[in-house]
Amino acid sequence: MSPARIVRVSGALVEAVPLEGASLFELARVGERRLLAEVIRVAGERATLQVYEDTAGLRLGEPVDLGGHGLTAHLGPGLLGSVLDGIGRSLAATAARTGDYIHPGITAETLDPERRFEFVPGARTGERLTGGDVLGHVEEQPGFVHPILVPPGLEGTLDSIRPGNFTVGEMVGSLDDGTKLRLAHDWPVRRPRPFQRRLAFDRPFLTGQRVFDFLFPAAEGGTVAVPGGFGTGKTVIEQSLAKYAEADVVVFIGCGERGNEMAELLSDFPDLVDDRSGRSLMERTVLIVNTSNMPVAAREASVYLGITIAEYYRDQGRRVAVVADSLSRWAEALREIAARLQEMPSEEGMPTYLGNRLGKLYERAGRVEALGRPQRVGSLTFVGAVSPPGGDFSEPVTQASLRVAGGLWALDPTLAHQRHFPAVDLEASYSLYAAGLMEWFANATHDDWPSVRSESLRLLQLERDVREIAGLVGPEALQEGDRFILEIGRIVREIVLSQSAFSEHDAASPLEKTYRLATLAHRAYRAGLASLERGRAPDPAALEGVGRMLASVRDAPFEDLDARVADAEAALERMGGGS
Ligand SMILES: Nc1ncnc2c1ncn2[C@@H]1O[C@H](COP(=O)(O)OP(=O)(O)O)[C@@H](O)[C@H]1O
Ligand SMILES: [Mg+2]
Repeated sequence: MSPARIVRVSGALVEAVPLEGASLFELARVGERRLLAEVIRVAGERATLQVYEDTAGLRLGEPVDLGGHGLTAHLGPGLLGSVLDGIGRSLAATAARTGDYIHPGITAETLDPERRFEFVPGARTGERLTGGDVLGHVEEQPGFVHPILVPPGLEGTLDSIRPGNFTVGEMVGSLDDGTKLRLAHDWPVRRPRPFQRRLAFDRPFLTGQRVFDFLFPAAEGGTVAVPGGFGTGKTVIEQSLAKYAEADVVVFIGCGERGNEMAELLSDFPDLVDDRSGRSLMERTVLIVNTSNMPVAAREASVYLGITIAEYYRDQGRRVAVVADSLSRWAEALREIAARLQEMPSEEGMPTYLGNRLGKLYERAGRVEALGRPQRVGSLTFVGAVSPPGGDFSEPVTQASLRVAGGLWALDPTLAHQRHFPAVDLEASYSLYAAGLMEWFANATHDDWPSVRSESLRLLQLERDVREIAGLVGPEALQEGDRFILEIGRIVREIVLSQSAFSEHDAASPLEKTYRLATLAHRAYRAGLASLERGRAPDPAALEGVGRMLASVRDAPFEDLDARVADAEAALERMGGGS
């Protein structure tokens, strides 16, 4: 058979013949420069490939070679702290080789091939092993134990295993059929990694953001969509999650909405310190960066790469969070590829399978019992930002996300414009997990957490109703009681639920602080109601004082919480006692 040659080039897509043996999503090397590409359509002897690199300068007649397998992730110790491009090339490795710029065709390892890890065997020779069983472990980062698992799909009797200081490529053991076991293995990014079984959503994914943890909690292993127009705070939310959310590992997939955004992230992130461990946040983070000037095909692949890395740590028994900013850029890559394939488009030019693909991505989230022994439970929580053009939520990517996500944190441009952050639309947002999580909150915090939450939601609903009436009749025509509802509702929204990402003491809120602020607002509400019942309208100056007190509780260091709350309670006592 003659070698395959390029017969057509169209943007990131290339057609080549003869390639009738190619399989879908198989990797290939294209052209003299050996650009990395993936087969996305086979028709007869003609195959279409999407190229992950700049195709400028590719000429007809240049050769195409199939790789024999799909795009894989190289999974092993050393992923934490790394910065990868959309197809898994370590930027540190590429920068060392070529300067900051990634030259086309370059192969850069995901994992540092020279770094060594002290391997401590756990399994014994003669033991029967299957995929997911723990072979032993290494310390990936100081204090971070990384179990080395038998790759899923393998099975056999352990023939040899040895302790020592190994690179990820060296053999640490073997099975009786001769299979070599190493610290790292490859996994095709488009295939979900298998697990034993799914577990219930019975514990929260805590974010440190009051409005989410209190009103719209995500479940560990759950999925949340965060749609919001330009400037509504999506990136700030995703970055706050990467910094403060309760996760052992964070995979941040950045698609770079703005030109310098990824560059800023790369320069800022390594300096951030984890409050809990006192160590660099980068040590538990994998950053996957796509700048807008990278080819669409790599952007399309980056989301699968990120999810696969996350599943790998999930399988080790870790709580992993994947934050994607934003999935709209991913969907646009899908659209561009579909258009080049001249597929019949559906709404707004998006391919008809957009919803299906998105659903399959979200399905890879979950809290699971991992494969293998000893028993491990791990989770993958997925939070995907969506940037609807013009902030219009009826567009296809937002709608498809809503259909598959378990939670919705909808962002509102009007609030963002008023500098009310997080700019969460309290009416549109929801969490399907909330009911199932209340038992956890009641046990872990205070018995009445669920009732404080539902009372807050009721109060906010009441405030919306009154605001609607005020819109009709004018605020002057409102009764005293209704005016009080407006005031107290405003305090809950603007003080209890607002949180500046740039505040020294309030960028992340522990649950105890969230609870105290909410219960103080409730006391003020009840004190006001009691005063109204006695026929006296709550004094506006006193209400303003309540707002100031709550703000001082909110902005104080956490160590001062008890003292500030006590002051606030005393002041409320005096007010309730008849001001
Ligand atoms: N939680 C927050 N606290 C304080 N400021 C915020 C917060 N969220 C957003 N902002 C402000 O809004 C700006 C735009 O937010 P950003 O996350 O970049 O929006 P988006 O990603 O939706 O376009 C930020 O630069 C910041 O000034
Ligand atoms: Mg953004």
